[in-house]
Amino acid sequence: MARPNTKAYQKTDRMTLQINSFDEYKEVYKRSVEDPEGFWAEQASSFTWKKKWDKVLDWNFKEPNVKWFVGGQMNITENCLDRHLEERGDQVAILFEPNDPDAPNKTYTYKELHAEVGKTANALKANGIGKGDRVCFYMPMVPELAIGVLACARIGAIHSVVFAGFSAQALADRIKDATCKAVICSDYNARGAKNIPVKKVVDDALAMGCDSIETVLVHQNTGGEVQMETGRDKWWHEEVDGQPTDCPAEPMDSEDMLFILYTSGSTGKPKGVVHTCGGYMVYTAYSFQNVFQYKPGDIYWCTADIGWITGHSYIVYGPLLSGATTVMFEGVPTYPDAGRFWQVCEKLKVNQFYTAPTAIRALMAQGDEYVEQYDLSSLSVLGSVGEPINEEAWEWYHEKIGKKNCPIVDTWWQTETGGIMIGGLGSHSPMKPAHAGYPLPGIQPCLLDADGNELEGNGIEGLLCIKYPWPSILRTTYGDHERCRQTYFSAFPDKYFTGDGARRDKDGMYRIIGRVDDVINVSGHRMGTAEVENAINEHPMVVESAVVGYPHDIKGQGIYAYIITAGPVEDEEAFRKEVLAVVTKEIGPIAKPDKIQVVSGLPKTRSGKIMRRILRKVASGDTSNLGDTSTLLNPEVVDEIKNNALV
Ligand code: WT7
Repeated sequence: MARPNTKAYQKTDRMTLQINSFDEYKEVYKRSVEDPEGFWAEQASSFTWKKKWDKVLDWNFKEPNVKWFVGGQMNITENCLDRHLEERGDQVAILFEPNDPDAPNKTYTYKELHAEVGKTANALKANGIGKGDRVCFYMPMVPELAIGVLACARIGAIHSVVFAGFSAQALADRIKDATCKAVICSDYNARGAKNIPVKKVVDDALAMGCDSIETVLVHQNTGGEVQMETGRDKWWHEEVDGQPTDCPAEPMDSEDMLFILYTSGSTGKPKGVVHTCGGYMVYTAYSFQNVFQYKPGDIYWCTADIGWITGHSYIVYGPLLSGATTVMFEGVPTYPDAGRFWQVCEKLKVNQFYTAPTAIRALMAQGDEYVEQYDLSSLSVLGSVGEPINEEAWEWYHEKIGKKNCPIVDTWWQTETGGIMIGGLGSHSPMKPAHAGYPLPGIQPCLLDADGNELEGNGIEGLLCIKYPWPSILRTTYGDHERCRQTYFSAFPDKYFTGDGARRDKDGMYRIIGRVDDVINVSGHRMGTAEVENAINEHPMVVESAVVGYPHDIKGQGIYAYIITAGPVEDEEAFRKEVLAVVTKEIGPIAKPDKIQVVSGLPKTRSGKIMRRILRKVASGDTSNLGDTSTLLNPEVVDEIKNNALV
């Protein structure tokens, strides 16, 4: 296709919030730490506020209570859309690449996006949705998902996007937790060669007693057949098409909720991480412009799904706040073949490309011929996110994709942090394979030993915490503030604890080692081991289970489940399939164990705690030194587990 219009009405070639060299970074960083309030007030002042804040920051990490730009009023969509109309109204905002490589691209200029969001916002209002109401999204990666999310923000409704790969049960749990008033979904999801019935999953979820739901808005995507319940279910096009394009932006307090996004922790059920309007706006735009060094006219592509925080912050909000052209990709990296990403990079002349190590490893394994056919010379910055990137994948990405000309920004952050915390700033920062690098301005990381003492200097390793608030820190976990305090702010006084371990090398660069809690990272997706265990335990034959992560060539970590059954398992293969089916039903296919070992017992301490250290070692194929097992209640079980290990 012809390159879309991204060059309209440019006045400058540098973004407002951008740092332009590593020396400038050092200066800016210093200032951001010495005078955080002054620093962030300055960044915030480049946005459109309906009312200026009275106080930049109010905080304590005890309760916790963090408020940014207190008393200020704004609407994030005015900053994503209206603010750009004059200067770049005819520039492409969303560039949609459909699943089918032969289907035409669809584009929305800032003007068109503004109109679509206005119409959709009016349709939501007409259906009784207003400020503070929660709206659940369960949709594939189509432009209507971004439009719908922005329409909520326009009227002050709180969006809760659930990744469309989750099961009906998981969707129902999330709808109930946030007592959502509406669900917005598609009929079907065209994903690779598959056509996944999305509306059917919503129907199944709503049959599980989601009493708060009044409206289901169905976007016709593939046009496949669906059941519509009269009174409750409505077609997107019928509700939206006739609406006026103008919808006044609801004045929002800086600290009003913008969205809820569920994520897994080390215990039980997923928690609804809450982000608020003002701080999230400032930080996602600031980090987007600096990490990717986006220049007006560039085409930026993040391959994540909007169902995850990466999609929220770096497909929708960060790029649109910055007036960028952001690509939305409906498909998968391996359809029609493993060259799809690179074919799209060539076709759309992508400048900044942001993906996950698991995708890089999977494509690397398919061979270089898929890359070599394409002209990747438009690329200027490559990003990585979701898990530590191993050196081999880093080198391949750097050499084969970036042709050694593109910096790799390895971005460490979390659903809870809202935006990138540690990572390079385009080509300005020094880089080292597998190192995320230096903290962004305003971010004050520290490393602690197990007793909470801060480790000073370089060449050290410890628990990664953050000492001082940044604008997009989570404010609470929805409906359960105590859980937020307990999870993130109770391990070490006055610190936000990330759950990750990290190393600060001799040059002061951070290298993330991985989670130190019972969270595993499978293909860049966070999974609580307890959550997977709860799902497995739903199988009637299962007495108890223990789940651990183990190194996996493509996924980063695989899921290894040890299961005690109520009696002998006659047909292990059939049992395995049943367990996978239960997990798929309870959570979704992403949580399916890669390996299942039936055991007669689990190694337990005298206090009844499972000794996961042993299970992790066995799962990783390292049984040479299992450490001290003498304190176990049942040391004899260790030999059995070791001898039957699936490695
Ligand atoms: C966990 C957060 C927000 C990004 C998408 C995942 C791991 C994330 C990196 C990285 C090493 C990383 C951490 C973190 N992680 N990025 N560049 N290097 N580890 O968000 O689902 O909230 O998971 O992902 O362990 O705590 P998430």
